[in-house]
Amino acid sequence: MSLVLGIDVSTTATKAVLVDPEGQVIATASSSYGYETPQPMWSEQSPGLWWEGAIDAIQRAFTESGTPPEEIEAVGLTGQMHGSVLLDEAGEVVRPAILWNDQRTGPECDEIRRRVGRERLIEITGNDALTGFTAPKLLWVQTHEPDNWARVRHVLLPKDYVRRRLSGDYAVDVADGSGTILFDLEARTWSPEILETLDVPAGIMPTTHEGPDITGTIDDEGAAATGLLAGTPVIAGGGDQSANAVGVGAIDPGVVALSLGTSGVVFATTNGPAVEPEGRVHAFCHAVPDRWHMMGVMLSAAGSLRWLRDAVAPQLTFEELVAAAADVPAGSDGLIFLPYLTGERTPHPDPLARGAFVGLTIQHDLRHLARAVMEGVAHGLRDGLDLMVDAGLPSPVQIRASGGGTRSPLWRQILADVLDSEIAVVGTEEGAAYGASLLASLGAGWSGTVDEAVQRAVEVEPVAQPSADRELYARAHARFDALYPALAPTFHSI
Ligand code: XUL
Repeated sequence: MSLVLGIDVSTTATKAVLVDPEGQVIATASSSYGYETPQPMWSEQSPGLWWEGAIDAIQRAFTESGTPPEEIEAVGLTGQMHGSVLLDEAGEVVRPAILWNDQRTGPECDEIRRRVGRERLIEITGNDALTGFTAPKLLWVQTHEPDNWARVRHVLLPKDYVRRRLSGDYAVDVADGSGTILFDLEARTWSPEILETLDVPAGIMPTTHEGPDITGTIDDEGAAATGLLAGTPVIAGGGDQSANAVGVGAIDPGVVALSLGTSGVVFATTNGPAVEPEGRVHAFCHAVPDRWHMMGVMLSAAGSLRWLRDAVAPQLTFEELVAAAADVPAGSDGLIFLPYLTGERTPHPDPLARGAFVGLTIQHDLRHLARAVMEGVAHGLRDGLDLMVDAGLPSPVQIRASGGGTRSPLWRQILADVLDSEIAVVGTEEGAAYGASLLASLGAGWSGTVDEAVQRAVEVEPVAQPSADRELYARAHARFDALYPALAPTFHSI
């Protein structure tokens, strides 16, 4: 049998998925790890965990499915975006990676705006400086750990650390590269102006590649560790959001990808480098050559429901909590939830934003809290979508949903009503890892283009249509949107 291997280096686990030429998933395996919070709102991970996780997941995918490793024709990589992986001359890790959900770099974001100029930054990179992105993390290390910075000879993104261990190459795809905001969005490579202004030597940045490009081949060390054959091509792949979009077939304008995991994302493809003038939604290169995308990211989506369960109803399963939410009417009898539990990115780039329940009465109980959380997350996602439509994107003809939260029929219906669009799911749940395997299928020579690979493999099933509740939700959305500006001074004083 011929197979490709997709590897997803996520924040919670590294996953391996084996896919055949028809797009069928033959095996998956996942190896979990934690992350460190050395101070409140900080978030770090040791790159060694990703490599050990990759070895474990790859080997288990082989053994559990009885697949001989020589059947793998190409490997595709994806992973959590924006993390700062800093390596010395010998390729050894200088300090733990600072992750996408770390909020320490507010002052460095201000410094980037000051040095580059906010307008110029948005003009070149498509984005404002946000704490999640990589560039402010580099400035933080320059300022707070000058000895560490002096040792840095290579900067990588998380999945590209695994690439380096597999093939020895220092390389990145353009989708993940643009999430550093050291990128020229239109030129699809590093911006000499931004690098110079931020004192980041161009020589420490990896080579840049389009998503389906081959960046190298498995070397002897990679082969010894994983069982893969030396010489197997390794494909550039993409940051998890663009790879997920490939995996659900969201590669054309109008087909929006929505993911509802710990964080929540609305992702729309563009045929050119479209930018929201205030930089309030992210504008990055797509993993598909000659395409770009806009994206709104909320930091606590399904993570908000997990928080509610853990904090208030640890005795319930998620299924029980969601069943309770289904018991109360749309609108949660006037209860509104703001989902900014870990600060926010879109539409309010504010590390100090906080969560809130507003409108509580003596009649509300756990069922209302649960439904209000699910609705609040949907309203937050709609804010991101509205910004993209205001920036000139077509309204979605279909939203392809993925991630743990979208297994719930109630949450799917709430999303259809709040976002006023058909919601569809695809035949696989492997998301970004599946997208990475579709990109790898080009390296294996099974398809000539990403469009062909998607056409061949992705099965789409509509699961929810907007109902009569959409009008009630439109009114609720206006109330939701009025809350952040009203509460922001309180959030900031807390
Ligand atoms: C995207 C982002 C997150 C991480 C999570 O901008 O920050 O989706 O990539 O894995």
